[in-house]
Amino acid sequence: IDKEENTLMNYKNSKWRNEMAIKIDYNNMMADFIGEEQGFTKKDFDDNKKVIANAFKTVMENRGTGMMGWTELPYNQKEIVDDIIATAKDIKKKFDNFVVLGIGGSALGPIAVFQALCHLRHNELPKSKRKFPKLYVEDNVDPERMAALLSVLDLDKTVFNVVTKSGATSETMAQYLIIMDILKAKYGDKAKDHMIATTSAHKGNLIKIAQEEGLKTFYIPDGVGGRFSELCPVGLLPAAVVGIDIKAMLAGAAYMDKICKNKDFKKNPALISAVLEYIAMGRGKNISVMMPYADSLKYIADWYCQLWGESLGKSVDNEGNLVYVGQTPVKSLGVTDQHSQVQLYREGPFDKVITIIAVENYRATVDISNGCENIPDVNFLCGHTMNELITAERKATEYALTTANRLNYTITLPEVNAFTIGELLYMFEMETAFTGAMLNIDTFNQPGVEGGKNATYALFGKKGYEKTKEEMDNSPKKNPDYIC
Ligand code: PA5
Repeated sequence: IDKEENTLMNYKNSKWRNEMAIKIDYNNMMADFIGEEQGFTKKDFDDNKKVIANAFKTVMENRGTGMMGWTELPYNQKEIVDDIIATAKDIKKKFDNFVVLGIGGSALGPIAVFQALCHLRHNELPKSKRKFPKLYVEDNVDPERMAALLSVLDLDKTVFNVVTKSGATSETMAQYLIIMDILKAKYGDKAKDHMIATTSAHKGNLIKIAQEEGLKTFYIPDGVGGRFSELCPVGLLPAAVVGIDIKAMLAGAAYMDKICKNKDFKKNPALISAVLEYIAMGRGKNISVMMPYADSLKYIADWYCQLWGESLGKSVDNEGNLVYVGQTPVKSLGVTDQHSQVQLYREGPFDKVITIIAVENYRATVDISNGCENIPDVNFLCGHTMNELITAERKATEYALTTANRLNYTITLPEVNAFTIGELLYMFEMETAFTGAMLNIDTFNQPGVEGGKNATYALFGKKGYEKTKEEMDNSPKKNPDYIC
């Protein structure tokens, strides 16, 4: 391994920024490459000209307003970023573990960015090499997981960050209750030194609790929904704590934002990918596979799945008509899934768009050692690098999909660093907004998720949910004949 550290980021230099631009290659979506039956032609783009132009206009007109407050995050957080960096420095001095308590949009972004930008074995490194606290993101209420976490944490060296925009989510508030009880039993009045809150400034219960307990608090802006919150304190605080350059991440998002303002979809990566997915959906391609060829981007695919699924899976359009739209997002990892799912992608139903994420320069180079000189079928690997192998395998998958007439396109990151990750996250957010506008739906609500939250409240006897409880009690009883 010759390069352990990220390439030094010089994001204030415009030449460097342009070298770090993310590229989209959609040749393999076109009829020239995968045939007339599956592939797109100029006519497909022409036929949708109006929808594309209207969607672009809607997003541009609404940016910064309502639930599109996230478009301004690259620009409007100077003081917040300073506070986050100062808090992260303080945490580094006092603690060795930083634990996020949160779920959905409060957890998937921090996990994705941690995996992308920290050493892939960050938590396992000795402190002298790690330099920053360990990060744990607890996004479930599996009792075994909580018990396991508590068994490995030294509480004296641990600070928790409870994150919930609504301040009401059962999973997160249950975790808070458990941890705060333990902290109070151990530290009494000083328990608050081990707990930070990240929540809405005026809505929900967590803000009230945070004020009563005197917790250090970061705020989630009103116009920023859970799955669009990675570039606000929800994601920036955990990232800064583990040593990620959050200013570079925001600079990457701002750089992408500028590109996303181009109304020519051929010059706007978020708009072109929205157009491709929209046309594909119209042809019954109901599955969107996200396949990065980098372990560091594995959880970016997970984060994308929430963004895409929760934003676009809607039963009604903006006029209230039943539409039942959306694409099922699937995460896949190259090359690992070449040995499982690619069989289905190449030979199964024609119901998918496969997005490959390529990385030009990995942060490490590993030579494949010499050996097995008498066995040519093994020896052919020698003299190459793992970098060459993973790149060849990605190209091989593209080739295999294309020759089987499967819709696929490739997003290329010149390298994985805080700037390109900022670009990528922002590009996916914009793509989602453009696609939602093309589908004429509310991209930013989640009535389906809230339905589940409300049913949990009802089952636990929460006040105000009596009607839901009654409806649930009156739902048909299970038929034992159907259980074996
Ligand atoms: O995107 C969303 O809005 C959801 O996935 C939320 O992030 C998730 O349900 C958690 O909500 P909250 O932050 O209110 O606890």
